[in-house]
Amino acid sequence: MEHRIALLGFGVVGQGLAEILRDKSYALRSGLGFDGLIVAISDPMKGSLYHPEGLDLSQALKAVKDTGTLDAYPDTPGLIRGWDSFQTIRESNAETIVEITFTDVKTGQPAIDHCRAAFQCQKNVVMSNKGPVALAYQELSQLAKEKGVRWGYEGTVMSGTPALRMPIVALAGNEISEVKGILNGTTNYILTKMEEGYTYEDALKEAQSLGYAEADPTSDVEGYDAQYKVVILANVVMNTPLKRDQVSCDGISSLTPQDIESARSQGKRWKLIGRARKEGEQVVASVAPEMIPVTDPLAGIMGATNAVTYDCDLAGPITLVGAGAGRKETGFSILIDLINIAREQL
Ligand code: HSE
Repeated sequence: MEHRIALLGFGVVGQGLAEILRDKSYALRSGLGFDGLIVAISDPMKGSLYHPEGLDLSQALKAVKDTGTLDAYPDTPGLIRGWDSFQTIRESNAETIVEITFTDVKTGQPAIDHCRAAFQCQKNVVMSNKGPVALAYQELSQLAKEKGVRWGYEGTVMSGTPALRMPIVALAGNEISEVKGILNGTTNYILTKMEEGYTYEDALKEAQSLGYAEADPTSDVEGYDAQYKVVILANVVMNTPLKRDQVSCDGISSLTPQDIESARSQGKRWKLIGRARKEGEQVVASVAPEMIPVTDPLAGIMGATNAVTYDCDLAGPITLVGAGAGRKETGFSILIDLINIAREQL
């Protein structure tokens, strides 16, 4: 069945999704009956396109690759250019809005307003933007429910690695008493490189050049990105309305080569650990560098890889390891939410 999609933002994730839909359209249609049709792209820097019968993804990708904007996309009868994000939400015929603008760590805007507008118009939203889930989960999930639409956010924690769907679907029936993990690839990459002898500054530069870091890497190194993800895990997986200011937050910027060496001499490794733990009726949450023994599954996670351990009362501790960022990986996180909306599953 055809599923019409509008993209808000056409950066790395949007282009990754467009490539997947272009390259796997036959397999998705024949294997899953999923026929994703991008009808609109609205990007504040690259321009906007809308065609009610769908856009030519190869042409859109080529225009951006060759010129940096969508202006070179060929004119076709029925094509409309220049719609902003809100016009795209309200006036396009898309059933689902894919919100992949940059995360604003302070306000979560304009993404929160994009979600409100879409739900009011009875459109589903899928996103990898962490802001709305970390800052407005209770309000937005309630609004989506009232309006009878779906809200997908698998990509907000560990990109396409199913850090949210796996505990909700595959671990249903367990009480999860603690979630802890390496939730930020940039900092894990820096710590790995510092163990190899890099300075903090050189390791950060390399993480930026490889595209792992946020637009402002302060968010990574001071722990705010991981703090957002802890809030999301607590709300979504532990069903607790935890707020960002309830998660104590300490980053890795003050760790020195001596600290790294001192951990090594004790058979330990520094990792930036995000944690949410049930204590009675409360959830206690933190982000902080911790020296963990090399025997802990999280100690073996190197480079930009992420991992999360769920402490389950029935299934025991389960650790999920995988990518936490990436063009294809985050593109996939959007795809899996779209597929599950189309097949009416979680
Ligand atoms: N900057 C983030 C990281 C990207 O390094 O993990 C994915 O959220």
